[in-house]
Amino acid sequence: MSDNVFDLLTALEQDFNAQAALVDSKDKLEEIRVRFLGKKSEINSVLKGLKDMEPEARKVMGARASAFRENVERFIKSRETELVNLDIAREIEAAGGFDITLPGDYGLKGSMHPITIVARELTQIFTSMGFNVVDGPELESEYYNFEALNVPADHPARDMQDTYWCDNGQLLRTQTSTCQIRAMEKFGAPLKIIAPGRCFRNESIDASHENTFFQFEGMVIDKDVSISNLIYCMKQLLSKFFQKDVEVRLRPGFFPFVEPGFELDLKCMICGGKGCPTCKQSGWIELLPCGMVHPNVLRAGGIDPEEYTGFAFGGGLTRLAMMRYGIRDIRVLNSGDIRVMEQFNKVIY
Ligand code: DAH
Repeated sequence: MSDNVFDLLTALEQDFNAQAALVDSKDKLEEIRVRFLGKKSEINSVLKGLKDMEPEARKVMGARASAFRENVERFIKSRETELVNLDIAREIEAAGGFDITLPGDYGLKGSMHPITIVARELTQIFTSMGFNVVDGPELESEYYNFEALNVPADHPARDMQDTYWCDNGQLLRTQTSTCQIRAMEKFGAPLKIIAPGRCFRNESIDASHENTFFQFEGMVIDKDVSISNLIYCMKQLLSKFFQKDVEVRLRPGFFPFVEPGFELDLKCMICGGKGCPTCKQSGWIELLPCGMVHPNVLRAGGIDPEEYTGFAFGGGLTRLAMMRYGIRDIRVLNSGDIRVMEQFNKVIY
């Protein structure tokens, strides 16, 4: 019996070697698989014969039989890959030598502008605090940019914002505060909005001045809104943005559309308040002008100041982006210089 198994296996191995050499298609490969590994394959008779053998011989023949099986399996796998590659090679030849298996050309990968990154981060923070995001036109009327914000034609505050006027009397908005009035008109009270956007001022450009920059405006109107609500909201916003607890202080500030008006300063995070070049040795960074909405502004938005109060704030998006990324020259932001922009590979949807 043992001779029989031996002969059977040897014949099988020889047969397989002869057949394997002839495989040139998937069908032939499948034939080989059925014949040498399938249920009715001869290797199964070999395995059946093993049980009648002496233990020593059974061990030797058993090992040889399973080595044969493994050999057949390995062959099928590798020949399969070869055949696929052969098909591809034929396709390439048919396509005139174009290799469809080469990795594609992905082109240049885009990146987000630092202002877009910061705007989206702020938007996420504000929406998580229940604010709605609104928008307004960049080409504005004098009414929305000044008058409705309690800045009449002869008001000295107009001089603070050098304005680009158009021939038809319109202007390029100097502040996103325009969105306050538009939002009040559209949604009424109570109201919780932010408006990130681009603004323009007729400034001479240098490392810290631009004629085109970005702000974000915020407004909260409800019954019994107070200065402590304003401070709490600003602290929340800043600690979420900088991802650590921040210290802030309020100083009086003058803006015609708020009364009282404040400058909100942030304790310098670079020196921890000791004084450094970034905070001009003062320990504080002037960050967010804000205040309680002036009754005239509420009225202009169609809201009764006897019934509702509110606060508003306006921050420099450009300023925040520069602080966040340590950008010292504001001009690079509008330069479109790809070498600068491709350093910002963060994407926020
Ligand atoms: N719009 C002002 C500016 O561009 C900033 C500002 C100050 C906005 C006080 C506000 C505010 O909402 O309450 O200078």
